[in-house]
Amino acid sequence: MAQEVRGVIAPGKDEPVRIETIVVPDPGPGEAVVRVQACGVCHTDLHYKQGGISDDFPFLLGHEAAGVVESVGAGVTDVAPGDFVILNWRAVCGQCRACLRGRPWYCFDTHNARQKMTLTDGTELSPALGIGAFAEKTLVAAGQCTKVDPAVSPAVAGLLGCGVMAGIGAAINTGDVGRGDSVAVIGCGGVGDAAVAGANLAGAAKIIAVDIDDRKLAKARTLGATHTVNSKETDPVEAIRELTGGFGADVVIEAVGRPETYKQAFYARDLAGTVVLVGVPTPEMKLELPLLDVFGRGGALKSSWYGDCLPSRDFPMLIDLHLQGRLPLDAFVTETIRLDEVEKAFERMHHGDVLRSVVVF
Ligand SMILES: NC(=O)c1ccc[n+]([C@@H]2O[C@H](COP(=O)([O-])OP(=O)(O)OC[C@H]3O[C@@H](n4cnc5c(N)ncnc54)[C@H](O)[C@@H]3O)[C@@H](O)[C@H]2O)c1
Ligand SMILES: [Zn+2]
Ligand SMILES: [Zn+2]
Repeated sequence: MAQEVRGVIAPGKDEPVRIETIVVPDPGPGEAVVRVQACGVCHTDLHYKQGGISDDFPFLLGHEAAGVVESVGAGVTDVAPGDFVILNWRAVCGQCRACLRGRPWYCFDTHNARQKMTLTDGTELSPALGIGAFAEKTLVAAGQCTKVDPAVSPAVAGLLGCGVMAGIGAAINTGDVGRGDSVAVIGCGGVGDAAVAGANLAGAAKIIAVDIDDRKLAKARTLGATHTVNSKETDPVEAIRELTGGFGADVVIEAVGRPETYKQAFYARDLAGTVVLVGVPTPEMKLELPLLDVFGRGGALKSSWYGDCLPSRDFPMLIDLHLQGRLPLDAFVTETIRLDEVEKAFERMHHGDVLRSVVVF
């Protein structure tokens, strides 16, 4: 029996979001229905609403979520009704070329539910990142459900499902930050601050936070930044070099997604250092660099997709570290809101007022 629940949809390009009745089918083979307890508001939801990701309107928004599995379809063995889970957008297939080479964090064929959630008139919805969790219940592929310790608050846990994992993973997985490294993070929103926290967790000796907003820099300090640079007032490349004995940082993480900040990251790193791009650029952006500098400075220029995370490995581990008091994930929840306040949360995000607003059900 399909169920009817309330959910937030983006009806068309740049139109305000609204609450609609969503029809959630019973889980088919390999699928699960999850009762959502909390879902964070991410920049990517805003991109969907603005038509920046695809034209497949209407979207069912929301994808940074945690909740309890309500029912599972045939053949599902990894999760069962009652399990507390974080939803992920990397349900690895086990069969693509990345998975077969033992690199499932690059999986090129991740799973989503096969059946569609719809409006009551039958209109099919496109769930954001294959999740669609600004809804009381959502239908996903069972592999999108990662079990974690239920002692954690759902509002905190859900954030690991996207932006916070992307930032932490950019530092600990893609950037491979190690004990004693110097790290600079350019752009300290939710993702950049998570990279700061990740670098701290990995034992970085120096963590330089760069942003154009002093409020963000103050927050970065509470998450482990040892130095801060307001790049509106100070040249960040000079400042980072000065703070690292004149050399540049071992790892520089770009969490804005713009050519000018990428260039700063490129020149603020030490010889043979690593640049990690976790900010997402738009299609029209171009980058120009002297090829000789690319060669002569050596090292690694990497992009980080979803923090190169493997949900089954990283989510339970990071939740455990949080519960032990070693990873302050609660610092990312600026406010909890109701389902009908998502549009307002987009405005607050736009003005830089929040790291994350989280819808709590
Ligand atoms: N790679 C991934 O898998 C992944 C996942 C989630 C989000 N992202 C991307 O990460 C980026 C950051 O996301 P967020 O949620 O933290 O966004 P956000 O808007 O909360 O943060 C961006 C931060 O960058 C700062 N900033 C803007 N211009 C700057 C400049 N010129 N120099 C320095 N700082 C500047 C802002 O003040 C803000 O603090 C976005 O591009 C987002 O799409 C990537
Ligand atoms: Zn795969
Ligand atoms: Zn997200």
